[in-house]
Amino acid sequence: MDVSGVRLFSYIWAMNHLIAPSILAADFGNLQRDIEMLNKSEADWIHVDIMDGVFVPNISYGFPVLSAAKKHAKKPLDVHLMIIDPDRYLKEFKDGGADGITVHFEACTHLHRTVQAIKELGCRAGVALNPHTPVAFLDDIIEDIDLVLIMSVNPGFGGQRFINNTYKKLNDLKVLSNRRNPGLFIEVDGGVGEENIRNLVNTGANVLVAGNSVFSAADQPLAIKNLKYPA
Ligand code: DX5
Ligand code: ZN
Repeated sequence: MDVSGVRLFSYIWAMNHLIAPSILAADFGNLQRDIEMLNKSEADWIHVDIMDGVFVPNISYGFPVLSAAKKHAKKPLDVHLMIIDPDRYLKEFKDGGADGITVHFEACTHLHRTVQAIKELGCRAGVALNPHTPVAFLDDIIEDIDLVLIMSVNPGFGGQRFINNTYKKLNDLKVLSNRRNPGLFIEVDGGVGEENIRNLVNTGANVLVAGNSVFSAADQPLAIKNLKYPA
């Protein structure tokens, strides 16, 4: 294959995965600037991490910041709720600008009800799994959901080290999704960067969240492009 053939192949290959930079790692004093950078970049979605200080040992931001992001964003907002009892606030997150809402398996007593409520709001419904939660626990909900988010770090903070057992979970989820929900978005969140993105996509991930690997880069649009079209 000549150089243009390689590039075409890599382009087609890259079309299969989405990049969702996480604004948890953005400069909050310059949120508009950072979101405008994402608008112009190869990013597909904008990942918004909501933390309540109860489900996870950290508090991030809430509705006002979500609405501020929505005001400037030209790309879908992928809202990841790390909060207990998320049912109380689903409508507020939708009204604040969420296109997709992902709740944690571990935070929902009535997960089926929660998933239906998200879908009734017209949002893409996602379920996140902590590193210790087996993919098999999704067996009775997999056909009802649009997205599974596999946490590849313990939720609560950006900039943590990627947990290698994620590959095993991706394999399990790929088998389940092939059989029961082939259109599933398979999202990996935490410690994603240029060094592991190709392996993650090859193992079945099709949405990759990246916080620090994007926002700590000197050239952020280039960092996003390198995730979209990895070497
Ligand atoms: C962690 C959050 C992640 C975080 C990822 O709890 O869910 O979305 O922003 O950050 P990095 O890519 O820096 O690990
Ligand atoms: Zn997240």
